[in-house]
Amino acid sequence: MFICIHLWQIAAMDDLHTVADFRKAARRKLDPVAWDYFASGSDNQRAKRRNRAAWDEIELQPRVLIDVATVDTSTTVLGLALPWPALVAPLAYQMLAHPQGELATARACADAGIPMIVSTMANVDLETVAQATAAPKWFQLYCHRDRGITQDLVQRAQAAGYQALIITVDAPVLGRRIADERNRFELPPGLTRANLARYEKPGANAAGGSHLSDLFRTRQDASLTWRDIDWLRGLTSLPILLKGVLRADDAARAVDAGCAGVIVSNHGGRQLDAAIATARALPGVAKAVQGRAAVLVDGGIEWGADMLRALALGANAVLIGRPVLWGLAVGGQAGVSRVLGMYAEDFSRAMQLAGCTNLADTRGLA
Ligand code: GLV
Repeated sequence: MFICIHLWQIAAMDDLHTVADFRKAARRKLDPVAWDYFASGSDNQRAKRRNRAAWDEIELQPRVLIDVATVDTSTTVLGLALPWPALVAPLAYQMLAHPQGELATARACADAGIPMIVSTMANVDLETVAQATAAPKWFQLYCHRDRGITQDLVQRAQAAGYQALIITVDAPVLGRRIADERNRFELPPGLTRANLARYEKPGANAAGGSHLSDLFRTRQDASLTWRDIDWLRGLTSLPILLKGVLRADDAARAVDAGCAGVIVSNHGGRQLDAAIATARALPGVAKAVQGRAAVLVDGGIEWGADMLRALALGANAVLIGRPVLWGLAVGGQAGVSRVLGMYAEDFSRAMQLAGCTNLADTRGLA
């Protein structure tokens, strides 16, 4: 029976050729409240739209008459060998997309050789996701007002074998997600914020009694500053990357503060709706970092050509976010594998079309 369903899913996915195809199929499959939560940007959805439009506007100048019969798409980011320059972004509440949630994503990532960044807001606890595969993973941290919880999360991530800590710095409060407000979005019964369940006060409902914005308001630390980054660095030997950096001066400060990398991100357009598109912020950040730390970028990257654009503008790798959720919703582990496979193929083709034999050749295309 399982095999039947699996084959049926693959057959159905054969008709899906692009991220947009997967998005449409996922929308049909997902509960509308879950779709709204995953798909929505903040406020008027401008930052989300700008992210996509900004990639489209970047024109590259391909080189011709280069032997691209074979190209090397591999790279290394903070000691991690990647078959092609991408990681899977931290994505909350993956069991809203598929019953196997984060475990399905972890297995697909391991098969593809692409590291997964596991969210503080996962539905499966970080230890269980770590054990699901031996593949390298990073952990995304939301800093809690209660420093004991923050410290415990950091220590748990290190003990479970995560290889880097991603501190989200663009969410002192949650951006306004109008659809979630209308839907009074909360986790359905049976799903938990598994990493945080052990810190719930007696009587509190770890299964989502409060809305996400309430959770941020009551638990997240809106007073986080650069001093806290020093404190976090003192807690762990793991490399720390800041996610949500959009300014050159902040990027330089992150490197000076000992961070191993920055992620140019506006949270998929889910926080400040007026935020600059990531494609436009990237060159300034890369220039400020000057190769002293890793520069990653996310937000609306849907094609191999977008990955090429990101590398040409100075990124070392990209994060893939929502498209992974679309794959997960459509076909579980097999769906995520299909989406990742699509990016791998598309990126390799884009390199060939641009006359790049390896990632170093992507510099100078923009
Ligand atoms: C959580 O990180 C969210 O953006 O909803």
